[in-house]
Amino acid sequence: MGVAPTNSMGREIPIPLYYQIKSRLLEAIESGQLKPGDRVLSERELTEQFGVSRMTARQALTELETLGYLYRVQGKGTFVATPKLEQPLLGLTSFTEDMRRRGLQAAARVLSADTVSAGRKAARALRIGEPEKVYRMERLRLAGGEPMALETSHIPVALAPGLMEQVSAAQSLYRALSEAYGIRLVRATQSLEAVAANSYEAEILGVREGTPLLLMERISLDTQDRPVEYVRSLYRGDRYRFTTELLRQEETL
Ligand code: GLP
Repeated sequence: MGVAPTNSMGREIPIPLYYQIKSRLLEAIESGQLKPGDRVLSERELTEQFGVSRMTARQALTELETLGYLYRVQGKGTFVATPKLEQPLLGLTSFTEDMRRRGLQAAARVLSADTVSAGRKAARALRIGEPEKVYRMERLRLAGGEPMALETSHIPVALAPGLMEQVSAAQSLYRALSEAYGIRLVRATQSLEAVAANSYEAEILGVREGTPLLLMERISLDTQDRPVEYVRSLYRGDRYRFTTELLRQEETL
């Protein structure tokens, strides 16, 4: 495949060579021409085939790696990664349920668990006073042994005294809430935004610093419309793809 110096729109903005190589590789992956586990051309091979510098070839491979399309194996080469997990944004489901539906083993590693004063943000989300106590729990979520998300949950102590022990035993926050406290979460508000992994998050999630992550903030309410949990979840952008269904509203124009 040859690389053109300018784009096909005829504008005067040249498309960088690395970007053209990256796009070709991406096309080959998305069309199924390259399949998960296939080895892709090495930096040296790309250099020879496209007559570009080694740095250019490296940039194309590195970006596709950061986005989760490729992975490198030391001394073996660069390979096509398994497709991202598709996560519908419709139901109020738990991590454990989401993974089970996919036939994957869900796990939670508790990184910290404290009882703290709610503070401004959690207090507002949970509709409680700032000095009121909440459980603050940070958990690394794994699917099939692979780190997927880092979650920090806040739950008012008054609603579920002794919750930490119950979560450790159940391995699922939602199951613990329902089985030990009879709390059923029925609706939630959720936001989604892009962030870059800082060094701590990168280390815990096993990605490079700066890797795109999807930050989800959720406030879940129970049958009595009480806010029960305020959670910040950082999902790996290289492993997740969120999908949603859109309904056409009546035209307003
Ligand atoms: C998802 C949500 C979190 C929620 C968690 C509960 O990961 N993003 O907001 O707290 O599920 O999962 P589990 O019941 O497996 O602990």
